Amino acid sequence: MTTSRRRAAWLAGALWVVLALPLAAGPPSAPNASAVVSPASATLVVNRGSLAFSPKEVTLGGGGTLTLVNLDSFDHTVTSVATATDGTPLFDVRVPAGTSATITGVEALAEGSYAFYCKLHPQMRGVLVVEGGGGSVTPQLPSFDQPLVVPRKKRGTEITIPMRLARVRVLPTGPATRMWTYGGTYPGPTIVRPAGGETRVRFVHRLPRRAGALTVHLHGDHHASEHDGQPTTQLVRPGRARTYEYPLTYGGLPEPSSFFFYHDHRMNRTARNNWRGLQGMFVVKDSSQASLRLPTGLRDVPLMLADRSFRTDNELTNPFAHGPRMVGHHGAMAWLGPRAPPDDATVGTHVLVNGRYAPYLRVSATRYRLRLLNASHFSSYAIGLSDGRPLLQIGTGNGLLHKPAVRQRVLLGPAQRADVIVDFHGANGKNLVLDSVPAATGETGADARQVALMQFRVGAEAPDRSRLPARLPSPDLVRVPAKVSKTWTFDLGGSHRHGTFWSINGQAFDPGRVDHRARLGTVERWRLRNTSDMTHSVHIHAEQWRTVLRDGRRPPPWERGLEDTWRLEPGEVVEVATRFEDYTGPFMIHCHMLDHEDHGMMARFDVVD
Ligand code: C2O
Ligand code: CU
Ligand code: CU
Repeated sequence: MTTSRRRAAWLAGALWVVLALPLAAGPPSAPNASAVVSPASATLVVNRGSLAFSPKEVTLGGGGTLTLVNLDSFDHTVTSVATATDGTPLFDVRVPAGTSATITGVEALAEGSYAFYCKLHPQMRGVLVVEGGGGSVTPQLPSFDQPLVVPRKKRGTEITIPMRLARVRVLPTGPATRMWTYGGTYPGPTIVRPAGGETRVRFVHRLPRRAGALTVHLHGDHHASEHDGQPTTQLVRPGRARTYEYPLTYGGLPEPSSFFFYHDHRMNRTARNNWRGLQGMFVVKDSSQASLRLPTGLRDVPLMLADRSFRTDNELTNPFAHGPRMVGHHGAMAWLGPRAPPDDATVGTHVLVNGRYAPYLRVSATRYRLRLLNASHFSSYAIGLSDGRPLLQIGTGNGLLHKPAVRQRVLLGPAQRADVIVDFHGANGKNLVLDSVPAATGETGADARQVALMQFRVGAEAPDRSRLPARLPSPDLVRVPAKVSKTWTFDLGGSHRHGTFWSINGQAFDPGRVDHRARLGTVERWRLRNTSDMTHSVHIHAEQWRTVLRDGRRPPPWERGLEDTWRLEPGEVVEVATRFEDYTGPFMIHCHMLDHEDHGMMARFDVVD
């Protein structure tokens, strides 16, 4: 197949779900069929509280105008799934609550069907059919013309990472992008350490003063409160340094083999600081697992997904420049303005893999281990391969599962990770696309992005000593108490007049308030409830947790290992349990949608003696 035919096939198969929609209006009429009149203008409406476009499918004559009337109390966007070659959507307009706007870009489209969605509420989807002449703009798959970069590894006991400005080759053409980096690259170096191997990482703040004080959290790891990257204390001030200590042990034993990431965690600034580039990966290896013969070396590839938007000069946009405005003070914080909750989702137009837009990786026709991390601010991905080849999930971010789970798509909310094996046997000479395709409306994962992430260029077969394990040595799980010790309810608080905030148990984050106390050495069972209209990605610090129940049932096979982050769709309830081990002091529970975290959706619990 030629590249363009392959692209066309992929578009037909995955991106253009529209062709399979029962509502499809049939093939567009011939441009000169005078009997058919396509409207020169069309209107989409979002009714109050509906979280849906009406109608779901809209037809427009080529060159015509599309208007969105937003009768809702939330902002919405009309954003095309299809992109130009440079990765920007063909149309992407944000329509504030209670206003209407023309969707610019639509007038230039060529004949065809265009799926669109709302970036802020990605479960809202629709289809635009353009009939007749019109423009010449057509969707393009990314051309995958830059190689994947695997961040360099740091393996020492003592590691120093300067936080500094650097230019990073993110987009394939044009100038490199200026970012705030860990060690001069984005992502920062991948730290690879043996389980139980005491590790000290010194972060030196060499970023401009306007970056303010920073703090580094090693997400998923178990370590002392003072080394946890507290949002308001133990900060790293400009020009200063701080050493974080990670023993990589749990209850005195080596930690399970895991896939963590480190990132900035400064209160109210986490979204901005991560957007600018303060993110890196961390792998904990357990040498006793060598006998499992999982793929290693160049066939063990960490992949960090994160979306960003760019100006025409390739610099990052600054979604945080215009607020929202914070009102009130500790204990009663709220936000006003167009980017106040719930309209505060930061969604980038380009999804990057290891800091590159639409990269490719040459692989042999053998098995590979992919460690998938969703480091995005808001977006979820339902990750799979374009030819339908399954992923064999062997672990979470916190260790192996008891047995592998065969997955067509792996759904990851912000901060979630999955450890998977892909078998490229039989794909010799093919180009496969790692993509994200949302589930059908109403199903779990309907809010995932629809996007081509990267390409695997599969070469010849090669010797492969790896095996597909039937059983895995997974970490022990705690015995679960019958009683729930604490319920955490995630919702929206405040009012449009006095300011809104994301809330946990009705309150916005206050670093000085202790929202729960857990006793060291005891096992607790917690209930997490999402009573809001939006999905949240709930993360708990300090310990590694067992998922007890999801919506009253035993969790799915891939959620039966250790976890630290759960996706909760509207109305969902998840129960989790852990034993509080080793460390006392303050720790955080929060939504890992970083704007939600910055806008109140965080709480503090203290482990006490
Ligand atoms: Cu990945 Cu509290 O953070
Ligand atoms: Cu919306
Ligand atoms: Cu959230």
